[in-house]
Amino acid sequence: MKPNTDVTAIRRAEFPILQRSINGKPLVYLDNAATSQKPLSVIRALTDYYSYHHANVHRGTHSLSQEATDAFEQTRKATRDFIHAAQECEIIYTSGTTEGINLVAHGMSGSLQNGDEILLSLLEHHSNIVPWQLLAERIGALIRVIPINAKGELSVRDYEKLLSNRTKIVAVNHVSNALGTVNPVKELIRLAHGVGAKVLIDGAQAVPHIQVDVQDLDADFYAFSAHKMYGPTGLGILYGKERWLNEMPPYQSGGEMIDQVRFEKTSFAPLPFKFEAGTPHIAAVIAFRTALDFMRDVGMEVIREQEDMLLHYAAEQLAALPGMQIWGTAAQKASVLSFNLKGAHPFDVGSILDKMGIAVRTGHHCAQPLMKHYGIPGTVRASFAFYNTLDEVDALVAGIKRAREMLC
Ligand code: ALA
Repeated sequence: MKPNTDVTAIRRAEFPILQRSINGKPLVYLDNAATSQKPLSVIRALTDYYSYHHANVHRGTHSLSQEATDAFEQTRKATRDFIHAAQECEIIYTSGTTEGINLVAHGMSGSLQNGDEILLSLLEHHSNIVPWQLLAERIGALIRVIPINAKGELSVRDYEKLLSNRTKIVAVNHVSNALGTVNPVKELIRLAHGVGAKVLIDGAQAVPHIQVDVQDLDADFYAFSAHKMYGPTGLGILYGKERWLNEMPPYQSGGEMIDQVRFEKTSFAPLPFKFEAGTPHIAAVIAFRTALDFMRDVGMEVIREQEDMLLHYAAEQLAALPGMQIWGTAAQKASVLSFNLKGAHPFDVGSILDKMGIAVRTGHHCAQPLMKHYGIPGTVRASFAFYNTLDEVDALVAGIKRAREMLC
């Protein structure tokens, strides 16, 4: 761990919400895969922007607009540095991972033909399934699905068999939101490039937990969301290689994304603005820089070590409980523990945990094909951030024992 990193002190100083009570019990927030809590530094950046710096960006000659524009663009540079993109123009602001994926699915439609194939995995979130399905239906392309093994890991051997010169796109997540499996995306990308396919990585559950280097991965597109990274909701980032982004048509159209508008024909602004129509979520963008600073100051290695420690401890404790089914036991996992109590519906377990102040997500986690594969309606999912504690894992274990007494 980085010397002098006092996680408890950071938690106390930066996250007042974690000192709250829920249903008369101390809040135990274990729903970080849905959204992480926000440090005071990010909350202050939002109020500071609206209190003293608010103006529209890229529009005014006046000083306030310049100030807002500078801060807005500084986040682009900070994001480029954070994921080690080659250029700032490869960082597109979106409303979230979902919009980033939709943007690429829309943009790729011109380069697909009837009979081409799109490879997805059984681990995908609906947001990395449905946009591709709609595209495939429009074009007559086919969706192929990479299967998983008993541990919830992608079968790279089957993936290799599925790849062919018909494969035009591979879209997989870096970390599964439902199981926590860390997928070998560098290897998947290398193999896809071998048949000339482009690869989109859904990084929503990866960037908050592990250091991502898009150039080292050689990803063509990499999408993620600010709100899972201690930043505001309503903001996502789409990274794309400059060449591919230049080749793609605009997604939304309107103000700011144009060069010249004539009734006969419109020409478009250069990257990244071609993909940023309308007034963006300026406050979120500016505050996201503070979130990136926060993560850098805590340190990605500290975040990873803390979360690994919590995940391993929780997995061990839960596995020792009678009647537990744990879904996803991959060798490489990040921050997610999905489970069921035999004989109990996940919703009922979640409701009892909530009465004890413990926030978890229950249900299909927007991964219905995966739940169907397991033959279950859903799971209970505990997901950790670095600010969680071993005591909170103990509270979860006590909550599950209580749920078992009441339900099984
Ligand atoms: N995709 C988020 C989750 O897994 C919301 O909970």
